[in-house]
Amino acid sequence: MPQPLAATWARPLLPLLPLLLLLAARTPLPAGARPAPGPEYLRRGWLRLLAEGEGCAPCRPEECAAPRGCLAGRVLDACGCCWECANLEGQLCDLDPGAHFYGRCGEQLECRLDAGGDLSRGEVPEPLCVCRSQHPLCGSDGRTYPQLCRLQEAALARPDANLTVAHPGPCESEPQIVLHPYDIWNVTGKDVIFGCEVFAYPMAAIEWRKDGLDIQLPGDDPHISVQFRGGPQRFEVTSWLQIQAVRPSDEGTYRCLARNALGQVEAPASLTVLTPDQLNSTGFPQLPAQHLAPEEEAESEEGEDYY
Ligand SMILES: *[C@@H]1O[C@H](CO)[C@@H](O)[C@H](O)[C@H]1NC(C)=O
Ligand SMILES: *[C@@H]1O[C@H](CO)[C@@H](O)[C@H](O)[C@H]1NC(C)=O
Ligand SMILES: *[C@@H]1O[C@H](CO)[C@@H](O)[C@H](O)[C@H]1NC(C)=O
Repeated sequence: MPQPLAATWARPLLPLLPLLLLLAARTPLPAGARPAPGPEYLRRGWLRLLAEGEGCAPCRPEECAAPRGCLAGRVLDACGCCWECANLEGQLCDLDPGAHFYGRCGEQLECRLDAGGDLSRGEVPEPLCVCRSQHPLCGSDGRTYPQLCRLQEAALARPDANLTVAHPGPCESEPQIVLHPYDIWNVTGKDVIFGCEVFAYPMAAIEWRKDGLDIQLPGDDPHISVQFRGGPQRFEVTSWLQIQAVRPSDEGTYRCLARNALGQVEAPASLTVLTPDQLNSTGFPQLPAQHLAPEEEAESEEGEDYY
C-alpha cells in the first residue's frame, strides 16, 4: 500500500477517528486463543477500506511494497494486484468473500464463524481464520505440531531451519509422565488414590507396582483397584490406583510405570498409614498434606481435546 494514498485520505477520515480507535483497541482474539502479532492487520483493514473508496487503480506491480515476515503466507490484495500477508489462525477475517476489511486467511486456513464463544453470555460469534486440517503432524525438527498451519507458521518464522513434515501423526517418543502420583498419608480405614497422567505416541500402557511386591497391581487384592481412561489431552492416558480402607501393611512406595514401543518411564509415590493412636500421639502430623488429588481435576477441565 503506497503511503501517499493514506495521507490523501486522512482528512475526510477525521470524523471516523473514534470508530477507528475503537477498532484498533478491540481485542482481536477471543480469550484462550494465541496472542496475535498486534493490531497491525486491523490497521491494514482500514487502509483497505480507504482504498476501496477509490476503486482499483491500474495495477503496477513494480510499485507494490514487498510484504515481509508473513507467517501464514501471502495473498493478493483486494484489487488482485499486490501481495500482502495472509491472516493467521485465530485472526479475524471477512466471511463475505466480496469484503476486504480484515483480509484473507492463509492458504491452509478458511474463514469460519467462531462457534467456540459463550453465546449464552451474549458473546457475538466472530469470523476467524481456522486451519482446514486438524490432524497432528511430526515436523522434521522432531516436534509434534497440532496441525499443518502451526507447522507452516514455524517453518515461515525460521526459513533457514528447512522445517518440513516428517510424517502425519505425532512424533513417536517414549512416554512422558505429565502428572505424577503424589506422596499421600492417611489414617487406617480411609480410602486413598494415586493418579498418573501420561502422554505418549504410540499410546502408552500404564501399570502400577508396589516396591517389594513382585506383582502388577491390583493382583488379587480386593481392596486395591486400578482404573484407566484416555485423556484428558489427546494421546494421553490417565490411570488411578485406589486403595480402600488402608491398613498399616499398605504403607510403602508405589510406582506408576508407563511403557510403549520406544521406552519406559516410571514415577514413584509413597503411602504413609497412621493408626488413630499415632495420630493422637503426634498431633496433626506435619507430613506433606498439600499434595492432594483435587489439583488434577482442576487442570483437566481445560481438556478441549478430550479423546
Ligand atoms: C537448509 O537448506 C539449505 C539449502 O538446501 C542448506 O544450505 C542449509 O544448510 C539447510 N539448513 C539446515 C538448518 O539444515
Ligand atoms: C484421608 O482420606 C479421606 C477419604 O478417605 C480424605 O477425605 C482425607 O482428605 C484424607 N486425608 C489426608 C490427610 O489426605
Ligand atoms: C485419642 O483417640 C481417642 C479415640 O481413639 C479419643 O477418644 C481421644 O479423645 C483422643 N485423644 C486425644 C488427646 O486426642
